[in-house]
Amino acid sequence: MEIHRSGVNGLSWIQRVFIDRADLYLEIMNSTWSEGEQIARSIAEILRENGLESGRVLEAFCGNGRVAIPLAIEGYDVLGFDISLPFIQDARQKAEKHRVSDKAKFIVSDAREIDSRLKGEIFDAIIIVSTSLGYYDSMTDEEILRKLRSLVKEGSILIIANTFHRETPSWNCGRVFQRYGSLVLMEDMRFDPLWSRLLSKWILLRDDGEGNLTKELEVNTEMRIYTSTELAEILRRAGWGVDSIYGDIRKKEKFSPPCPYLSLIAKAIQATE
Ligand SMILES: C[S@@+](CC[C@H](N)C(=O)[O-])C[C@H]1O[C@@H](n2cnc3c(N)ncnc32)[C@H](O)[C@@H]1O
Repeated sequence: MEIHRSGVNGLSWIQRVFIDRADLYLEIMNSTWSEGEQIARSIAEILRENGLESGRVLEAFCGNGRVAIPLAIEGYDVLGFDISLPFIQDARQKAEKHRVSDKAKFIVSDAREIDSRLKGEIFDAIIIVSTSLGYYDSMTDEEILRKLRSLVKEGSILIIANTFHRETPSWNCGRVFQRYGSLVLMEDMRFDPLWSRLLSKWILLRDDGEGNLTKELEVNTEMRIYTSTELAEILRRAGWGVDSIYGDIRKKEKFSPPCPYLSLIAKAIQATE
């Protein structure tokens, strides 16, 4: 049986990274805002190709709205939810700033309880952007996807955009560095092939611009990484049939392993056991 080892209620590192030090992850999302805009443009294109020129879109795990807000600017009525209050507060402020607070709304909610939080509401499409599944275990992910399925009618679209996937060869590459403005993320990665879990030590360092680095946060993260087939199977059991598969959704590129991203487009079907 697969178990998650991320602490009480599966929230320990998630709490530290996205809630307790939300200020740091907000810097990361802010410095990748234009990536969010590009993702939103591609999502809007796919929605239109599927006959949805406008309508209600639910964004699960929306962060600070770097995709929801540009999607509202594209003309959709977006409701974003996230477990982190600081992210939601930031998203609301940004929606005001971009003058779309009537079209981009945000609520704090745990994805694991989203069906009861949004009971009775129906959306035309659901989106999940970046690696937001895999934080718990596969049964929990399936449950979340089933709960999301209860919020749409049959035939509605689900877009999972730019998530990590198991075929990426770099999982064994050890230490990687990424810069986000004055923040430097040093990540020591180890991949557990038996449970398909990526175990990383994240060290976030502040660069003062004069060659001095100060540690802001050190945390061990852990997530379940899926193959495209595993994710498609989980989706099917939860009531979503995958129609198309891409790599990076911004380029609508063909999915192929060297690309670190996997994107799936699915439609709501009858759930199978
Ligand atoms: C990798 S970030 C992606 C954020 C956003 N989708 C983006 O692309 O900018 C993952 C997000 O999932 C949220 N999250 C983690 N666990 C959650 C849960 N149980 N319910 C709702 N949101 C959750 C985090 O707070 C974080 O904003």
